[in-house]
Amino acid sequence: MSIPTEFLNTILVGDALTLLRQLPDAFVDVTVTSPPYNKGERDRGWLVDRVVYEGARDNKDEAEYQAEQTAVLDEVYRITRPGGSFFYNHKIRWVRGRLIHPYEWVSRSRWILRQEIIWHRRIAANIRGWRFWQVDERIYWLYKPRFDGDTIGEELNPRHALLTSVWEIPPERDPRHPNPFPIELPTRCIYSVLDGQKGVVLDPYCGIGTTLVAAKLLGCDYIGIDISEAYVAVARERLEAAETEWPRVEAEVALHVVRKTFQERKAQGEWARRFHQQRLLKEPQDLVQQLCLPEETPPSAKAL
Ligand SMILES: C[S@@+](CC[C@H](N)C(=O)[O-])C[C@H]1O[C@@H](n2cnc3c(N)ncnc32)[C@H](O)[C@@H]1O
Repeated sequence: MSIPTEFLNTILVGDALTLLRQLPDAFVDVTVTSPPYNKGERDRGWLVDRVVYEGARDNKDEAEYQAEQTAVLDEVYRITRPGGSFFYNHKIRWVRGRLIHPYEWVSRSRWILRQEIIWHRRIAANIRGWRFWQVDERIYWLYKPRFDGDTIGEELNPRHALLTSVWEIPPERDPRHPNPFPIELPTRCIYSVLDGQKGVVLDPYCGIGTTLVAAKLLGCDYIGIDISEAYVAVARERLEAAETEWPRVEAEVALHVVRKTFQERKAQGEWARRFHQQRLLKEPQDLVQQLCLPEETPPSAKAL
């Protein structure tokens, strides 16, 4: 399928589903997005600002919301080339005590669900005690098969796979948008599946354009969509000055290394299980340090 060059390196302003329907089949290599979460615009943790988008309400009927998200997932599937990927960020929500898992509507789409990645954000949006503090969001790595029965896809280069299925990346703070991506997140997605190759990157809810800036800095073409003219204006400014964001992209890329081969680790007694046990023993105290507010004294490791 040929690449529709008129759409490359542009941002379209409008409704994601409507605009996706106007794009041709099978030309996108990787999509990274975070849609509005249908949070009802009421949930407000005191640690984070209320999420209210400029130009859109985030309080649909839940069934309607899920049907729309499945339709968006399927449109992205149609315009993705076989073998392409979609990293879809969402979170577990509760509505009047009922847990709503994104898997409900992701599994109704055409995609192969390749992995559920935990995005460990280190901070809880609401820390009342109704349940354990929710510090995670999810990233669904979705895959479009290259041929009938291709449910596995190509292997990741080990330098990416070593980053594990838990991504510890703090959320971004930016006065220009209530919840933009930290640029490390789309950088990790794009760089891992394209492995340094060029490709076409899409974000159908691009906000202030973080995915697009990451794509540009990684040498890819991009297409963005957002309903807000104001956010798109910021995205265009960021793309103009993209090189100023290179240090953070470069730092993320620098994490994608294999320092020792498996044979070398094994020869030096650092084989997988021991490495794992050391990490697990270290982590509870680290986690408490990260979660506690500055004025709080972290409980001792013994108290855990
Ligand atoms: C979670 S934010 C995405 C932020 C983005 N990842 C960034 O780094 O800036 C969701 C975005 O969806 C946009 N949005 C809401 N409804 C939309 C719709 N129907 N079509 C397209 N964009 C929409 C909002 O304006 C908001 O910027």
